[in-house]
Formats: sequence, C-alpha cells, structure tokens
Amino acid sequence: MSEPSSDERLQQEFNRWAEAGEGEKMERHHLDITEKTIRLMDLRPGERVLDLGCGSGWATRLLARLVGEGPEGFGQVVGVDVSDEMVRQARAASKDFENILYVWGSAEKIPWEENFFDKMLSVESFYYYPDQDRALAELFRVMAPHGRMFILINLYKDNPYSLQWVDKLKVPVHVRSEAEYVELLRKHAFENVEARRIPDDTPTPDDYQTKSFKSLDDLRAFKKMGALLLMASKPDLRTPAPGYTIY
Ligand SMILES: C[S@@+](CC[C@H](N)C(=O)[O-])C[C@H]1O[C@@H](n2cnc3c(N)ncnc32)[C@H](O)[C@@H]1O
Repeated sequence: MSEPSSDERLQQEFNRWAEAGEGEKMERHHLDITEKTIRLMDLRPGERVLDLGCGSGWATRLLARLVGEGPEGFGQVVGVDVSDEMVRQARAASKDFENILYVWGSAEKIPWEENFFDKMLSVESFYYYPDQDRALAELFRVMAPHGRMFILINLYKDNPYSLQWVDKLKVPVHVRSEAEYVELLRKHAFENVEARRIPDDTPTPDDYQTKSFKSLDDLRAFKKMGALLLMASKPDLRTPAPGYTIY
C-alpha cells in the first residue's frame, strides 16, 4: 500500500479530532480571539467570505450572519476543510443557514473559482498546511482584487508558550515568527501586510484542567501574549500603472 499524502494524513488526523468532539470544543478556545478578529474584518451584507480550515463551522456561522441579506445583496460564506468529518458536522449544524456552503478540500487546492472572495478568515489552521507557499498561491488566486485576508495563528515562534504543543501534535506543523510570516505574505505579492497580537482575555479558572500546557501559569501567559493575526490584501492587478494608461 502506498504512503498517504500529506493531505490524507491531515484528513485522517482531523477526522479523529472531529469524531472525538474536538471540532465543537474548539469554539470555546478560539471564540474570544475570533470575535476580535471578525470585528476588524468590517464585514458588510453582500460580501463573499472564505473560512479556510473551517472545522465544525461555528465561525463560518458567525460570518454568515454578518454578510447575509442587505441592500447590497445576499452575501455568502464558503467553509473549506480537509477533514470530511468536520465538513459533515459543520453542514449538520448549519441547516438553518441559506448562505453557507461547506466544501471538502485542501488549502493547497482550494475548490473554488478565481477572483471571488472579498474577505477570508482562517482560524488556527494555517500552520498545518504542509506547503504554505502553495496555499498562499491558491489564496491569491481565489481572492477578489482588493480582497482582504485575516489569518489567526496560535502557534508561532514569538509565543514561546505555544511551542509546548509541537511534540504533542500528531502531524507536522510550521513554526515561523511574525517577521517570517510577514515576509512570506509579501513574497506572494500581497499588499498592506500587517501583523497584530490578539490576546485571549477569557479567565482561566484555578481548577481548569489542561493537557496542552505544562501549568496553568503557562496557559495564562500564552493567552496574554495572544495569537498572531496576519492581515493582507490582494492587489488590484486590473489597474494599469499610470505610465501605461491607454487613452
Ligand atoms: C485546529 S482546527 C481549527 C478549526 C476551526 N477553524 C476552529 O477554530 O474551530 C484546524 C482545522 O484546519 C483543517 N486543516 C488542516 N490542514 C488543512 C488543509 N491543508 N486544508 C484545509 N483544511 C485544513 C483541519 O481539518 C481542522 O479542521
């Protein structure tokens, strides 16, 4: 039997997470930083949004409520995930939404047309993509001109507390710094590249049980330091440079 591909490994691992109920539990861990990010996304009714690595779809539903029906039209959200079990759970929990579509697929081969999305959110997924260059090339393809991306990353070099997970995870991950990510986005021709820290302000009770951190103090320090939020826009390649204007 041939070795599974990197996407198949991710699919198997995250199907296990989904079957163990981790998809839904992640809402509790990621909600605070995601809500803060969604506020920065300045979503408008009528916009088309991609939720890349959508998991069980709780954030997809938050997005869908904000872009739904309005004077500028009927906005829609597409959730993409490499785990078919996550996609199944997300669909089952989103039956009341007419403006969400979940698609099973990889960030390295986004199953969607080019120049489509006005905004993109990715929560705690980007560092799993084995070929981040390929994923960024795909994002560049599917984003609309001026489209803006919001990538939240909890595991990164500048937050030393997050590095405790690397050996616990059963799939390989990228551990890059803020500066390295900013450079990577610029290399892929994205504009207005910005990085921010998004702290998680939820309290950690003294009797909280954690398997991911060595101590509650480490967990609290991790949350205080916060997630890395990367923001970037796709340039409008249709706009000719001034010297090339044709009269
Ligand atoms: C830590 S979970 C976060 C899920 C969700 N965004 C949330 O915050 O609850 C990471 C998600 O990324 C998905 N994922 C990992 N690698 C992927 C890839 N190459 N393409 C698409 N999705 C991927 C996983 O299947 C999983 O659902």
